[in-house]
Amino acid sequence: ELMVEQNTRLAGKKMIVTAGGTREAIDPVRYISNNSSGKMGYAIARAAMNAGAAVTLISSSETQHINGNVNVINVSSASEMKSAIEDNFEDADVLVMAAAVSDYTPAKYSEQKIKKNGDELDIHLVKTPDILKELSKIKDDQFVVGFAAETQNLLDNAKQKLTKKKLDLLLANDVSDKAIGFNSDNNQVSFIDETGVFKKSDVESKDKIANELIDIISERID
Ligand code: CTP
Ligand code: CA
Repeated sequence: ELMVEQNTRLAGKKMIVTAGGTREAIDPVRYISNNSSGKMGYAIARAAMNAGAAVTLISSSETQHINGNVNVINVSSASEMKSAIEDNFEDADVLVMAAAVSDYTPAKYSEQKIKKNGDELDIHLVKTPDILKELSKIKDDQFVVGFAAETQNLLDNAKQKLTKKKLDLLLANDVSDKAIGFNSDNNQVSFIDETGVFKKSDVESKDKIANELIDIISERID
């Protein structure tokens, strides 16, 4: 009977999950990206699916896969990810933004492969839109969850992000710790809401953290 309840705790809910590091193209063969594997986002998408949610997974991960009834939208850049989220946000009950969105993108895309020329090459970068911050302006009653990857002042920085991006929940992790975070199967997160840190996980599998997150979300949405 407990099993049945577990499998239906997000029944009837529409959830968007984003995963992976975006890729910002420089030319047809090169891009700027980051160390995100996408594992955390995929674990969340799986946990949400297993809890009965209708899941749209917007992914810029090149290594992760998912089986089952999930609507996967593959994207590359921050700007593509933003459009894909916007297409689905109005209908959604929950957004979990686990993607590592590039903060900067090349100002100019070169249609031709850039040739090796001279001893230095400058690539001028411009800021990408802050997707969560933009969504906070049009947010209705969606429950919005963000992540904060920090290497220092974890909790202060995380709390600022919660406020700035008007998040309902933020999962903060210390990516300077090699045992957790990027590309690891394990992670350790602090769950933060407007009251501060209300729960800190052990170092444990990303699947376990994903399930804890789904528990919290299902308790906090109607
Ligand atoms: N995020 C976003 N749009 C961006 C950058 C980040 O929506 N252009 C989201 C991430 O998916 C994450 C949250 O914002 O859920 C926090 O991302 P993070 O990189 O930790 O914070 P930034 O606001 O980008 O600040 P900084 O990188 O300087 O710490
Ligand atoms: Ca960032």
